[in-house]
Amino acid sequence: MKNNKEAIKYFDLFGGIGGFHQAAISIKAKDYKLEHSVYCEIDPQARLLYNEFISKKDKNFQTITDAKEIKTHKNINGKELKSFDLLFAGFPCQSFSNVGYRKGLNDERGQLFYTILDVLDYYKPKYFVLENVQKLSTIKKGELLEEMKSALKSVGDGYKLYVWDLISSDYGLPQKRKRLFFCGVKENENLPNFLNEPPKIELEKSTYPTVWHLLEKNNVDEKHYIPSGTRKTVLYKNPKWQGDVNIDNHIARPLTASMSKWHRANQDNYFSDTYIKSKNPLIRPNVDIETEKIRRITPLEGYRIQGFPDIFNEKAKELGLSYSTQYRLIGNAVPVSLAKNVIEYFLDNCNGNKTNSRRVQFASECS
Ligand SMILES: C[S@@+](CC[C@H](N)C(=O)[O-])C[C@H]1O[C@@H](n2cnc3c(N)ncnc32)[C@H](O)[C@@H]1O
Repeated sequence: MKNNKEAIKYFDLFGGIGGFHQAAISIKAKDYKLEHSVYCEIDPQARLLYNEFISKKDKNFQTITDAKEIKTHKNINGKELKSFDLLFAGFPCQSFSNVGYRKGLNDERGQLFYTILDVLDYYKPKYFVLENVQKLSTIKKGELLEEMKSALKSVGDGYKLYVWDLISSDYGLPQKRKRLFFCGVKENENLPNFLNEPPKIELEKSTYPTVWHLLEKNNVDEKHYIPSGTRKTVLYKNPKWQGDVNIDNHIARPLTASMSKWHRANQDNYFSDTYIKSKNPLIRPNVDIETEKIRRITPLEGYRIQGFPDIFNEKAKELGLSYSTQYRLIGNAVPVSLAKNVIEYFLDNCNGNKTNSRRVQFASECS
């Protein structure tokens, strides 16, 4: 057991409600300890909720509201950041996601990728862990992803880059949320060129093996039930739809930031009272779509599906955050246990923790 653990200070850029921060504080590593150094988030409501979960020892972190204020080579009059060794960033993904326009980096929000590059170029942290939607790998037939990878490899003094395409349900959460992770470490010849993805976790052994396990069974606010005037739009199966209307999915569809808008049933998560009260999560009951009481997920269920502790729901209530605000914050977040598994595995491997059983799988090297 090492007495002097390496302190790794992190910058939670575009930090939202803190999926990365929650992941970081849950990591108990033998060789290093993660320390909070900087947080940047433009959304005041996200900042409010985030700040509810700061421990006393972390109180001295620096907050920046707009990433455009950060000092970099291109913004030499900006605010200098406190030192950090690890950059986390779940950069805004609307411009890359399926529902957005998919303009890629030309879009204003896509430009924030360049802010990440500017920060890496100026502060040259030892590590970074970035997260984005998987769909970005299909933009311009994959060219955008290749451009991003080569930019991340060559920025600053150069980084060894590992890119993983992961799904939350492989990492302890009942959700089909797919995310791309870009993990970089300063170039170092002792590191492999290729690292397999983090080892998977059996969903059956997780706190919530299915969504059914986390659904609130009683006293759900009537506002979460589909209003009568909206039912037809949500539940009507247009013959042109390719997918199925399927409700009562035991693994959730990816949560969206706009789930308060009553999306169609084949695009979001809806559950019938019959399913919620049933005994077998794996059997989808045959319900009468015309008469059955059907609802969206509640904020508490949303936090759970994303891996946040239940206390987020209590604090959000105390802060008076509306349902739509909470759905936006939840839907934008990085799933906590997915992020935790990525960070832990990446840092364990970078730090040569050979005795740790999680260090596995240096696959055959490739260039
Ligand atoms: C994909 S979300 C990341 C959420 C975060 N990983 C979490 O777990 O909650 C992107 C975040 O970037 C924030 N953002 C967008 N533009 C920004 C800017 N110019 N400066 C700082 N934050 C910004 C958004 O408000 C949003 O919370």
